[in-house]
Amino acid sequence: MKATVCRKEHFNAAHRLFNPKWGFAKNQEAFGLCNNPNFHGHNYDLVVKVTGEINKETGYVVDTKYLKKIIHDKVIERFDHKNLNLDLPEFADLNPTAENIAVVIWHILRCEINYDLELSVVLYETERNFIEYNGY
Ligand code: NI
Repeated sequence: MKATVCRKEHFNAAHRLFNPKWGFAKNQEAFGLCNNPNFHGHNYDLVVKVTGEINKETGYVVDTKYLKKIIHDKVIERFDHKNLNLDLPEFADLNPTAENIAVVIWHILRCEINYDLELSVVLYETERNFIEYNGY
């Protein structure tokens, strides 16, 4: 009997979307306002979903205290109030789009969660735009 445990968190961060191989005009065409050289911010909502068998002894799929702790320690502490382009080495050569941020967060959390459990990360960049990444 499988179930999915979801934990919602929040962080604020700044970024600039651009491809350093392109000139300003092409970047402007592709990324518009998100290409602002002086950066801009988003209020990100992060939903982490862990799916697996309900443990017969605990009744849990995963301990939400543990899930909360690893999201805080490994993701929120590192991402919140940061400039993703400048402060996080993961984005030194990777455009910090919502897609790439979701992939980076997935990889960080994947190392911390039992491999018997499936992991999915949903990242909301705005209320209406969100990305889901589950490792495929
Ligand atoms: Ni943006």
